[in-house]
Amino acid sequence: MATKYDTLEPVNALSILSTKTLLEFDVNKPRKTTEESAPLLGNPSKPLVGFTLDDLPELTTFREKFPDSVFRPGMKLLDFACGTGLVTMKLPPYLAEKGKTTEIVGIDINPKLLSIFNDKAEKHISEEVSIKSYIYDILDPELQPELSAKFGGKFDAIICTISYHHIDSYREVTKKLAEFLAPGGWLFIVDFYNEDVEKDIPAEKAGNAVRHMGGLKVDALNETLGSFSGLTNVSAAREFCVKLWQPDIFIENHSRQDIVDKMKSGDLESKNVNGDITYLVDNSIIIAVGQKS
Ligand SMILES: C[S@@+](CC[C@H](N)C(=O)[O-])C[C@H]1O[C@@H](n2cnc3c(N)ncnc32)[C@H](O)[C@@H]1O
Repeated sequence: MATKYDTLEPVNALSILSTKTLLEFDVNKPRKTTEESAPLLGNPSKPLVGFTLDDLPELTTFREKFPDSVFRPGMKLLDFACGTGLVTMKLPPYLAEKGKTTEIVGIDINPKLLSIFNDKAEKHISEEVSIKSYIYDILDPELQPELSAKFGGKFDAIICTISYHHIDSYREVTKKLAEFLAPGGWLFIVDFYNEDVEKDIPAEKAGNAVRHMGGLKVDALNETLGSFSGLTNVSAAREFCVKLWQPDIFIENHSRQDIVDKMKSGDLESKNVNGDITYLVDNSIIIAVGQKS
């Protein structure tokens, strides 16, 4: 499962888009409106719907073009729920600079995924960049003294990509991550977003997708990062939409009901690659951010 995860097309396309969006994110700019985030990215006829590593910011002009990026050499960065490091391992080139020491930490609960993370990390570790990983359930009461000593007030940025919808206790996790931020540090949550969760659908009428994605409402994320976890400069908004080829199980559990209905009535474009059937669907991505004061 762990090795297959790394080969999945939508996962890889999203890891490029997530990394690009994080690197280029300007915390001083207003968030995108619904209209601004609506245009659909992706070219369905190309591998990885057309995204390649060339879509990441150019290394030599990165700092000049994105002077307000939170991601900079010498920083301390935590990738929470880092998995195999698909996003993490795209960052070191932007964080390496002679004379500065960048620390990257990955935390996940799955040791199989972290073992792939560690293999990949070897080729990115240098005099300038250290990369360490830890298998932790950060809510485990017995681990709290160790976690506070190691990570309390430490990180300039914490990222968490495509994972929050898997984490039932994401409010408590957010509070814990907020404790790991250094003063002025930023938390970035990047995840799938299903617009249906904003409609007041009664629990008994909600489909699998709304039940699975229900926590990731704009207001709920703002409240979780803000009043519940004590972060400031909090905002949550849809950041972009992208066409991806997804399997039926994904669509059932993540997509809007109109998309699920179209799949069921045979109205979605599909392709069959070596027996794996996937459907072309719109995916929305939300980003929630907040800063430690
Ligand atoms: C879809 S993967 C995303 C991995 C990676 N962030 C990426 O963008 O490729 C979800 C990850 O969340 C991790 N995860 C789920 N619940 C977690 C928890 N309570 N604590 C830490 N990691 C968790 C899983 O083990 C998995 O690696």
